[in-house]
Amino acid sequence: MRSNAELPKKLFIKTYGCQMNAYDSERMADVLIPHGFEAVDNPESADLVILNTCHIREKASEKVYSDLGRLRDIKRDRGPSGSEMMIAVAGCVAQAEGDEILRRAPVVDLVFGPQAYHRLPEMLTRAQTFNARGGRERPVDTDFAASEKFDTLPDSQQTPGAAAFLSIQEGCDKFCTYCVVPYTRGAEYSRPVAPILAEAKRLAAKGVREITLLGQNVNAYHGNAGKGETASLGQLIRRLAEIDGLARIRYTTSYPGEVDDDLISAHADVPQLMPYLHLPVQSGSDRILNVMNRRHTAEFYLALVARFRAARPGIALSSDFIVGFPGETNAEFEATLDLVRQVGFASAFSFKFSARPGTPAASMDGQIPEQIKMERLAALQALLEKQRQAFNAACVGRSLPVLFEKPGRHAGQIIGRSPWLQAVFAEGGAELIGQIIPTRIIATGSNSLRGRIHTDTQIHSETKAAAE
Ligand code: 5AD
Ligand code: SF4
Repeated sequence: MRSNAELPKKLFIKTYGCQMNAYDSERMADVLIPHGFEAVDNPESADLVILNTCHIREKASEKVYSDLGRLRDIKRDRGPSGSEMMIAVAGCVAQAEGDEILRRAPVVDLVFGPQAYHRLPEMLTRAQTFNARGGRERPVDTDFAASEKFDTLPDSQQTPGAAAFLSIQEGCDKFCTYCVVPYTRGAEYSRPVAPILAEAKRLAAKGVREITLLGQNVNAYHGNAGKGETASLGQLIRRLAEIDGLARIRYTTSYPGEVDDDLISAHADVPQLMPYLHLPVQSGSDRILNVMNRRHTAEFYLALVARFRAARPGIALSSDFIVGFPGETNAEFEATLDLVRQVGFASAFSFKFSARPGTPAASMDGQIPEQIKMERLAALQALLEKQRQAFNAACVGRSLPVLFEKPGRHAGQIIGRSPWLQAVFAEGGAELIGQIIPTRIIATGSNSLRGRIHTDTQIHSETKAAAE
C-alpha cells in the first residue's frame, strides 16, 4: 500500500457467482472509498485486489486458485512496488475455507467472509502492521452476524445505473442436501423494513428505475416492520411500490415451498412488479426432490406455476436445474424433461451435480459418472434453449416497454431490458438511458432482441405499453 495518505489507493474487486456477490462487491467499495480508495478496472495497477468468491460448485471454487496464481505473477512483475499490493479473498470460498486459503496461497494477505466486510478498514490496518517477529498479520474474519453488517454499512456514495440490486434477506435454513449456502451464508436473516425503504428511496432519488430485491431465499423474508409486526415479501413489495420513480420491482431467488398467497396476489395487484419469476425447481422427479430435501413434489411446483399465471397472465418463468444428482435414473431425468415441457420456461440455468465438501449429497451412494451427467445436461439444455428461442421469437412484432440502461457497442446504440429481463438493443441517444420507452421488437439475436423505439415519449407506467 502507498504510505502517502494523500494519493487515492487503487482498488480492484473481481466478483464471481451470484447477484448477492455483485451487491456485496459494491458495498465493499462503499466501505473503502471513504478510506481513500478509488476503483480501477484492472488488477495490474491496484494496491488492493479483492476476489469476491463463489463456492456453489467446484468449478467456481477452483477458479479462485488459478486467479490467485495470476495475481502472484502480477505482483512479482511489478517488482519492489509489487510487495505493496495486497490481496484479499472474500465471499463464500473465504467463509468455507478460512485459513486453509492462507496455507494454499501464500500470496493472500487477508481472508473475510460475506458477513464481515464492514470491518474491512480495520482488517487492512491489521494486515499492514508488522508484528514483533517482523512479519505481517494475515487476518481471517469469518464471523457470521449479518445484522451487524447491515447496521454498520455506510450509505453508498456511488452513482448507480438505471437498475440496481437491493439485498433484503441473506442466508438459508433449508439445507437442500447438495447446497453449501446454509454453511457459507449462515442462517436466514431478514433486514428490517425501514432501512430497506430508505435505501430504495435513496436509489430512486439517484435515478434508479428498477430494483431487484435479493436474498438466497428471498420469499422467506420476514423483516421487522416496527410495532412488533413483521412484513412478508408481498407486503414489502407493496410498500416499495409507493416510492416515486421506482417503476420496476423484481425479486430473486425464491423457494417454491415458501411462496404465500400474499406474494402471488402482489403479482396481480402491483403493476411495478415485473411479470417474470425465477423459481428454481432443480428436478422433475419426486424421489429426487425428496432426497434433495426440497420439501415439495413436481405436482406442487406445477400447481404453483399455474397460480402465478392465473394472478399475472403473461408471467414468464425461469428456473434452476441440477442433473446427475446421486442415484438419478434415466427415468427420473426424463421426469425433469417432462416438467420442463409442461411449464415452458423463458430462460433457465442448469448444472451438473457437483459434490460439495460437507454437504450430505457429496457422500451419497450412486454418484453419477461424468459422461452421463454431460449427456443429461446437453439434452436438458437443448430443450431449454428451444423454449427460450421460442419465447424470444414470440416477442417479435410486439411493442415492449424497455428500460434502457447503457450505451451499446456501436455508436448510436443503446441497451436495455424488457419486462422479462431480455436484453434489447435499439438505435437511440444516450439521453434515453434511464428511461422506459416503448420499443417494437423487430428481430431476435442469440442472446438478445433487436428493437426500434417507436415514440419519443417516455411512458410512466409499464402497464400502458404492456396493454398495446
Ligand atoms: N451442484 C450443482 N448445482 C448446484 N446448485 C447449488 N448447489 C449445487 C451443486 N452442489 C445450483 C442449484 C441452485 C443454483 C444457484 O446452483 O440449481 O439453485
Ligand atoms: Fe441452497 Fe437454495 Fe436449497 Fe437454500 S433453498 S439450501 S440456498 S438450494
